[in-house]
Amino acid sequence: MMLRAQMMLRSPCSRVATTCGRMRVTTVASSLVGDKPPVSASPVGMAGTLYVKGGVKAEYEVPRELTTAEVEALPALFADSAEKAIKAAGFDGVELHAGNGYLLQSFLAKKTNQRADKYGGSIANRSRLLLEVIDAVAARVGAGRTSVKLQPGITFSDLVEPEADVRELLDYLGPELSKRNLAYVCLSSLNGEPYFRLMQMPAPNVSFDVFRHFRSIFSGTLMINGGLGIETGEQYVSEGVADLVSYGGLFIANANMPALVAAGVKTGGLNPAGYDPRNWYSKDPAGDAKNYTDWPVQEPAAAAK
Ligand SMILES: Cc1cc2nc3c(=O)[nH]c(=O)nc-3n(C[C@H](O)[C@H](O)[C@H](O)COP(=O)(O)O)c2cc1C
Repeated sequence: MMLRAQMMLRSPCSRVATTCGRMRVTTVASSLVGDKPPVSASPVGMAGTLYVKGGVKAEYEVPRELTTAEVEALPALFADSAEKAIKAAGFDGVELHAGNGYLLQSFLAKKTNQRADKYGGSIANRSRLLLEVIDAVAARVGAGRTSVKLQPGITFSDLVEPEADVRELLDYLGPELSKRNLAYVCLSSLNGEPYFRLMQMPAPNVSFDVFRHFRSIFSGTLMINGGLGIETGEQYVSEGVADLVSYGGLFIANANMPALVAAGVKTGGLNPAGYDPRNWYSKDPAGDAKNYTDWPVQEPAAAAK
């Protein structure tokens, strides 16, 4: 479960945040929320609105395309931030965020990467920045402290990739990441239940099991998440597909979820409220805890009965 940003580090291009060691440069920010204008692989806008100062909604801004020189400077900036996260903030490791439509994914995805330089075009070119960033961070803090989150397919950032693109990306990155002995790769899938429905899609955009497929081509430690229940998570682990399973939505309304799982509670015994988007955010900071962090905690032994 994510804890909110512990530390904000400035970079010349945009902002780099470490969230529980998770590092991202966001492309879905807005100068309207007080930061610099967002930057991206290409100036591809994102449909939708976000809350800005004063609790009102505004359209997302079209990001500025980074120059080749700016992109070439990014790996060192990520490495600087990773070093600060480990040395200054005391984190055990960093997770590079290559999902959610953020900067690294904007290079991976065809829709948001329309570049003609060495960072655009072929799958190798679109993956170049991610691999350069991983290598720079691993060289600085150690591969064992470096991990990456991939989220091909659906994101909540107006990005829905077709199945062929998802497969192409996984097929390229599986062997590449296998060579790098990272702490883990987190493969996050929003391509199945309940996420495609939240995106108002009639059916999933991917028909194959991304977790099983990636396991067959990635030899390192694999964390999976996205729409998993306790039983499905346990099954993936027992079948050797996943080494680790992480949970988001279910955790929100079950703060002691590890204890509940250890006591034998199954998905049906958990409070499902964390999957209700009405409970996710508040535009009133004073009301943030309501239906978010104030759910009653179940006693494990009683819940297991
Ligand atoms: C309310 C909520 C907010 C989230 N916010 C972010 C976010 O800001 N950035 C991000 O990368 N993932 C975010 N996630 C996704 C989680 O990091 C994680 O990938 C996902 O929740 C796992 O799937 P699950 O919720 O189906 O278990 C969020 C998830 C939820 C439920």
